[in-house]
Amino acid sequence: MKQFQILLEENPEIKQNLFFLDSWDHLNQINILQDYQKIFIEAHKSRKLFYFHNEQGIQLYVLAAEKLDAVRKQGYEIVELSKKEALKSWNVSLQASQEKNIALLEGVGLSCFSFEKYKSTKKTTELALHITSGVEKSEASELENIIAATGISKTLVNEPHSFLNAVQYSKEIKVLADQFGFQLEVFDKAKIEAEKMGGILAVNKGSIQHPTFNILSYQSPNAVNEKPIVLVGKGVMYDTGGLSLKPTPNSMDMMKSDMAGSAAVVGVFCAVAQQKLPLNIIGLIPATDNRPGLDAVVPGDVITMYSGKTVEVLNTDAEGRLVLADALHFAKRYQPELVLDLATLTGAAARAIGPQGIACMGNASEEIKNTLKASGEKVHERMVEFPLWDEYESMIKSSIADIKNIGGADAGQTTAALFLQHFVDYPWVHFDIAGAAFSLQADTYKGKGATGVGVRFLYDFLKNRSLR
Ligand code: BES
Ligand code: ZN
Ligand code: ZN
Repeated sequence: MKQFQILLEENPEIKQNLFFLDSWDHLNQINILQDYQKIFIEAHKSRKLFYFHNEQGIQLYVLAAEKLDAVRKQGYEIVELSKKEALKSWNVSLQASQEKNIALLEGVGLSCFSFEKYKSTKKTTELALHITSGVEKSEASELENIIAATGISKTLVNEPHSFLNAVQYSKEIKVLADQFGFQLEVFDKAKIEAEKMGGILAVNKGSIQHPTFNILSYQSPNAVNEKPIVLVGKGVMYDTGGLSLKPTPNSMDMMKSDMAGSAAVVGVFCAVAQQKLPLNIIGLIPATDNRPGLDAVVPGDVITMYSGKTVEVLNTDAEGRLVLADALHFAKRYQPELVLDLATLTGAAARAIGPQGIACMGNASEEIKNTLKASGEKVHERMVEFPLWDEYESMIKSSIADIKNIGGADAGQTTAALFLQHFVDYPWVHFDIAGAAFSLQADTYKGKGATGVGVRFLYDFLKNRSLR
């Protein structure tokens, strides 16, 4: 059984036991209040769940919160209650606004995710919502697909490197491509060498694992965009820092998540293909681990990137920009309408805005950036833009090569983005998701570990584009 399903029920006889309401008023007609007045009043005040047991089982009333994200969290509360009561299904009447109805289902669906592969005893949540009113069939299936795509992204990020190296990653993407209906072309190490993708090869040099370069494509026959939208994702399968080794515990421990940007790209391809959005999109994923092996790049080395530019590598832990730069250069061949890259790129971005948001920067028009920000607000994957002022450029000047791969102590997220800007010649926005991609503490519907950040805002943005 699926972890989460929405089933639309046409049978009017069905007895509902979960009511999602815009106001408590109509509850007065139901003769429950004498016994439960106190809990009801409390629940009313705090908008907590209000439930009781009667001969038909559990009856749950949820008063819609003001803000959409608080509604998603109410969805999480419902899942927690279901686990506590060992309930696997609800008969649901959605009576709030369409936006809130969807947000509630989204919160429930996202909260059902768990990663159990390596547990001997699996505690998978299974929940079916039988819905009698308040949501259209097409909305429900779209939502299920987005939630499943977010789950795919989270699973890929949660997979440890002991399973998911770059070669295995390409195999996993291929399975998804066949299942969801998009194309995948994989460059192996020999092809990457033949192409002279110097950034990827430099990062891979200290590893015995082979790199891959993955080209995802989804081309709808009814595409509204002639030139593709290209999504680039950082696929550093594990970031030890290389010879500029990260300390452990703490800094290194969660670095299996350094491919979260690319996992968001994979997730969104699954959702777009499943929904058959009329779009033409390309995904580019440079994948390798970053290791301090015997032949690893040393700080001070100069490498030649895929674009031909030379880079002085002064810190081997600033590897993400090296692999992304090659992918961004590759993207030029598509003459793209827009390129969006997602990457767990800098600790600076994480420190600047914490796990609550995404740092974004780029040269795309204000109109595009505003549309992206609006998608971020809508799905609560909020983004804050940092400037790319010319003055920062001097911070990545090298005395012996074209540029160097680190700036200074200040504005780390910005110097990383400026580095990337050297490899683009098209409208582009970079999303630094270092803070938001992985959470060590469980956080309501986002859960613990991978958060799947990026999938939902990208899907929303692409969907809007497909409607223009
Ligand atoms: N993968 C890290 C960034 C990161 C940090 C992601 C924390 C998630 C959480 C990246 O490759 C990195 O190590 N960046 C360095 C760059 C520095 C050496 C210029 C950083 O931010 O410290
Ligand atoms: Zn690093
Ligand atoms: Zn990294």
